[in-house]
Amino acid sequence: MELPSKNADGLPVIPLTDEQRYTFDLQGWLLVPNVLTEDQVEEMREFCHLLKNEPAKISDKDGSSIGGPLEALTDHPFAVGFMQEFMSNPRFASETVYGFRLELTFLAYRFGELGHDNWRPHGGGGGGTPTSRDWFSAHSYLSMHRKAYCGLTQIVWELNPVRKGDGTHFLSGSHKSCFEFPESVAADQNHPHWDTYECEAGSAIVFTESLGHSGTLWSNQDWDRVAIFNSYNSVDCKYHDWEPHPEHLAEMPEQRKTLFRDVRSEMNVPTDEYYAQREKMRTPPEDGKSGGRGMWMHPEYRPSE
Ligand SMILES: [Fe+2]
Repeated sequence: MELPSKNADGLPVIPLTDEQRYTFDLQGWLLVPNVLTEDQVEEMREFCHLLKNEPAKISDKDGSSIGGPLEALTDHPFAVGFMQEFMSNPRFASETVYGFRLELTFLAYRFGELGHDNWRPHGGGGGGTPTSRDWFSAHSYLSMHRKAYCGLTQIVWELNPVRKGDGTHFLSGSHKSCFEFPESVAADQNHPHWDTYECEAGSAIVFTESLGHSGTLWSNQDWDRVAIFNSYNSVDCKYHDWEPHPEHLAEMPEQRKTLFRDVRSEMNVPTDEYYAQREKMRTPPEDGKSGGRGMWMHPEYRPSE
């Protein structure tokens, strides 16, 4: 199958450069400046202000960090290009079906004057938060033989400038490390293993959740942090308990809807062929027992015990 070359808005996918791909694999995180235009940033930031401070002005269906103008971030050409390099399997994609899902979104709107310290290191050791096994999970990052696979992946869209020290912190390289980070590193924000960034509004920061990372204190008293966190995963893998608002989903373009489709590998490329095959699988066989897949039958059509 072909991977999409355009996003749901018809914009050409932006592939990673060789240097970006190398940097992400090396560090486990990547900063890309100027991904959004000033106009986009302004419109999105205004929407975030409403979400945070005047939510009654936004409809229920748009009342999330993929609502209104923020919907365009879900399959921004840069986001699609990144996931197609590190996550998509062409077997589970087509020219109009994404080979990955979006499984969580949230708005990080932080007021400097509140001085809330968000220092909570987690991840690292290659597996992130243990789910399946300590050494493999929905977060896992794997790389070998010039191929890499990145499980649960965050794209952070910074809609205000970030001064050095105020943004997310990373233990570069820890997505490939064997051991958990020691408490002495976790407790010391100034430990030389911690890296972070500064950036202009409109920058994107991508990181694997298998990387040791942490939020921190937004010390800036001059402006607030306004950042969108969108989490992606493979079509057959999910960590977070979140779904988009059904009315919002219903009105999205068909291609964008595929970001939110069911979590599985089998029969998960919604095309005409898929719908025909699914219909066949759900049609009771004439003898009432066997179907096109041997004895398997859709539960709806199984004879009662
Ligand atoms: Fe995290």
